[in-house]
Amino acid sequence: MRPNLVVAPLTSLLDRLVADVFAESGHAQDRRGIFAIALPGGSVGVHGFPALAAVRFDWLTTHVFWVDERAVPSSSPESNFGLAQKLWLGPRRASATSIHRMPADDPDLDRAARAYDSEMTSVLGDAPRLDVALLGVGPDGHVASLFPGHAALSDDRQLVLPIEDAPKPPPRRLTLTLSAIAAAERVVVMALGKEKAAVMQEALEQDDSSLPVSLVLRRASRALVLLDEAAGARL
Ligand code: 6PG
Repeated sequence: MRPNLVVAPLTSLLDRLVADVFAESGHAQDRRGIFAIALPGGSVGVHGFPALAAVRFDWLTTHVFWVDERAVPSSSPESNFGLAQKLWLGPRRASATSIHRMPADDPDLDRAARAYDSEMTSVLGDAPRLDVALLGVGPDGHVASLFPGHAALSDDRQLVLPIEDAPKPPPRRLTLTLSAIAAAERVVVMALGKEKAAVMQEALEQDDSSLPVSLVLRRASRALVLLDEAAGARL
């Protein structure tokens, strides 16, 4: 299904992001009594998390996961967990039972990937399905820590993969697989700035594009794409 596309100034994008995520949380609660969302790092967090912090989620039934994490301590300024904790979950006093940090600071990333796979399965059931997968996009078209041409893109044996050679520093990371992300009830992609315009044009206009963002949008059943004017300039 073609994604819903919104090209607008940042403030309107954030309003749309919050309204969409909040609506999905209501649908999920009605459907299965819990709401599961997976978060990225980067600019989507910097702008999106303070906006999401403005609304009240039911922390007793909300579960927060990550689409990827860097192999750094959670106290590091590079930590995706740390970003969400600082800008959303901390200010909102989200309960610890709601927060499922990716243990990417484990020196054994294979073990960490298996542990997170089990955690997702223990909370979401055998075929874990997120309600919302929130994604940023790199200038190269990567999403989460799935980079163009990387073997991880075609590895669907598990939900979570270790990455030892990411082209975007730091090289060591954990990431959800393409299928775990694309299986989400709702995939939301937000891209800001002119350096994202070329990949977003390719992802939305080229049906045979093999960019990670293109692959996830083609596989998602319901997707929303939020672009500021600079990122949407080529559409
Ligand atoms: C990460 C992110 C990554 C990010 C993109 C876009 O850990 O680095 O999760 O996938 O979303 O790199 O980052 P920007 O939005 O900051 O350009």
